[in-house]
Amino acid sequence: MSVYRPPRIPASEITPENCFLNRRAFIATAAGGMLAATAAPAFASTLKASESRYTVDEKLTPEKDVTTYNNFYEFGLGKGDPAANSANFKPTPWTVKVDGLVGKPKEFGLEELLAMPLEDRVYRMRCVEAWSMVIPWVGFPLAALLDKVEPLGDAKYVAFETVVRREQMPGQAGYFQSLPWPYVEGLRLDEARNPLTLLSVGVYGKTLPNQNGAPIRLVVPWKYGFKGIKSIVKITLTDKQPPSTWNISAPNEYGFYANVNPKVDHPRWSQATENRIGEGGFFGANRRPTLPFNGYAEEVASLYSGMDLRANF
Ligand code: MTE
Repeated sequence: MSVYRPPRIPASEITPENCFLNRRAFIATAAGGMLAATAAPAFASTLKASESRYTVDEKLTPEKDVTTYNNFYEFGLGKGDPAANSANFKPTPWTVKVDGLVGKPKEFGLEELLAMPLEDRVYRMRCVEAWSMVIPWVGFPLAALLDKVEPLGDAKYVAFETVVRREQMPGQAGYFQSLPWPYVEGLRLDEARNPLTLLSVGVYGKTLPNQNGAPIRLVVPWKYGFKGIKSIVKITLTDKQPPSTWNISAPNEYGFYANVNPKVDHPRWSQATENRIGEGGFFGANRRPTLPFNGYAEEVASLYSGMDLRANF
């Protein structure tokens, strides 16, 4: 994110009438398919219809853009690099260890995570670089996983960690050295428990492609996209504010909270407007105004009452 690159997405891409809502017609079992490590399978029976508050009535960003215009520095710095360089990454088998200030620490196997009650959620995604998308995720609330490990009373934060696999992630091997590894992120416990906060295991009705954070990644739609840590292997409940990779790298540019806020500019660019990928809004008239909390103020503004949002960027 140190370099602000114009998107390479053609403005002409139009979202077709989306297949993702129809996917139950071609369903295979997600866990079975994934464990067989074949091409991304569609999800099965556990899906329940989205509640309307978890859906935005805006045109979906085309699947092609969602899966080829990515930030995942473990696979390179360019937007096309994660899709181009992640074919050797193996998202199965996989476990996520949940530990720290909890009554019942546990290592969850992927099968168990895929067996959580999965939901469709259509969320806006606003990158701190001032581009945005509308993405149909499949996942389950992080709170549901936290409930299983029984957080202790002194737990105040949740820390997340991405896998380290230099042999499968060329960015970690130093070919395009950029960030300290592993990529780490954190949330306050009340943010983590907010019903909007999702652990995603799929997009567009299929298991997550490697470039989108397979097999499991965080989605926090009212915060800048960098909070959405990918390919998570560890979640730790703690009483201290956890480190966050971009905050470590450039503390004056990326804060811990990173709530989408059109009134607090990045030191090198304005956050007042954004380029919705596919709308040709990199320059000029097609840019959209950025919404406070990315349009989720009703659900989350109360988490920050009394805080100076300008200071907590
Ligand atoms: N997670 C890891 N491990 N490594 C990364 O480089 N990039 C972040 C976030 N999660 C990143 C990551 C950034 S800057 C953004 S904007 C989102 O992932 C992009 O998610 P997407 O590529 O699925 O749109």
